[in-house]
Amino acid sequence: MVLASEPSPSPALWRGARAGPLRGVVRAPGDKSISHRALILGAMARGVTQIEGLLEGEDVLATARAMAAFGAEVERVEVGRVEVGRGEDAVWRVRGRGGLGEPDQIIDCGNAGTGVRLILGAAAGFDLTASFTGDASLRGRPMARVLRPLGLMGATWLARAGERLPLTLRGGGLKGLDYAPPEPSAQVKSAVLLAGLSAAGETEVIERTPTRDHTERMLRGFGARLEIRETPEGRRVRLLGGQGLTGRRVRVPGDPSSAAFPLVAALITPDSEVTVEGVLLNPLRTGLFTTLIEMGADLVIANSREEGGEPVGDVTARFSELHGVETPAERAAAMIDEFPILAIAAACARGVTRLNGLAELRVKESDRLALIAQGLAACGAGVEEGEESLTVIGRNGAGGAPAGGARIATHGDHRIAMSFLVLGLAAQAPVRVDQPGMIATSFPGFGELMRDLGAEIGPDQGPDQGQDQGQDQGLG
Ligand code: S3P
Repeated sequence: MVLASEPSPSPALWRGARAGPLRGVVRAPGDKSISHRALILGAMARGVTQIEGLLEGEDVLATARAMAAFGAEVERVEVGRVEVGRGEDAVWRVRGRGGLGEPDQIIDCGNAGTGVRLILGAAAGFDLTASFTGDASLRGRPMARVLRPLGLMGATWLARAGERLPLTLRGGGLKGLDYAPPEPSAQVKSAVLLAGLSAAGETEVIERTPTRDHTERMLRGFGARLEIRETPEGRRVRLLGGQGLTGRRVRVPGDPSSAAFPLVAALITPDSEVTVEGVLLNPLRTGLFTTLIEMGADLVIANSREEGGEPVGDVTARFSELHGVETPAERAAAMIDEFPILAIAAACARGVTRLNGLAELRVKESDRLALIAQGLAACGAGVEEGEESLTVIGRNGAGGAPAGGARIATHGDHRIAMSFLVLGLAAQAPVRVDQPGMIATSFPGFGELMRDLGAEIGPDQGPDQGQDQGQDQGLG
């Protein structure tokens, strides 16, 4: 298998700058959420799982290594197509033993919150001890949200202060649980369901706000029986412990969270037209597209179809005069990873955009709410950071892109980096970002794909590298 190491935060800067229109047809890399789940379920299942289109980002490769450490055979067998700007179609094979075994090494999940939280849930069901760590960002993120329910089921652990990584988990002997997570989180739901699969009795997760349901869909695909009901208290997902999974073929659709970058880039760059093919259109993931259409975006979905139990389509974006909107808090879960790039679209829109329900943004790869607000302010957009909301006032409300010209401290957050590079395409002066190497956690080949569309995004060659979060005078 490929054993790529954690990307070392690069000291170099990348910049996004104005160039011509963006045009072309591309494929987004495989969906990150589905890629993690395919590897984990494949390892828990008996038999062979063939995964086509797996995202080969650093986050997912860390999960692949982890599943090998838990005893599955994980190998990359083929790559179908390597074409600039068209992505590549990797085929991976996982041979599971019908359960996870005790690893003889520390599990390093890199930057991946989804990886570690889902693996904690999966591992908790088996009679094993496993130690987990991650990069500096992941070591700072809260694990109590999954450890709490896993503890109620019978797992024990020893963790650093504040229930942070590194931690050691002792699994096995679990009993089923009825659990209503206080936070809207697909990671928490998935961890409890995966643990419940190996627990005695029934496990139920009740979600007040529905979150992405890839775990439920994929569990069914692997042969598990789940009961899903909409009730006045919310969405109830129930399963009986002791069910075995059977390996299967999984086709991973394009990640809408990655497709968002070239699509928003086209919306804010005059004369552009970009199509991203094969994008996952699960309704629990399409909040960004709904919002952009409300903002006046010329966004068209064609060729809607189903692939591997998930809705998929081709999405075309054309340059549009966007206007501000207010988004409901209930929609936040369906676009939780898209707020950085949505805020960029809002900064180029006429009028005021208010985004609500953003509490969870503070515990992502960075405090995204704070970094979006600081970055936009440094680029000359009007912005107001609330505790759980963000208000963006385009260029004095008049529309058109803000000044730009800032150097953004990304704190190693891949989506902050890509979002501000996209802003640079429309802003009056280039926008620079640090730690561009982190983009490979979710979107390997981002720079190449964007350049293939006509964008000027890549290593910063300029003599003046600007000031942190400030204005570059005279550049552009
Ligand atoms: C994910 C769920 C979301 C999202 C993350 C992927 C998943 O996190 O931000 O990138 O695959 O389940 P939360 O469940 O913590 O909101």
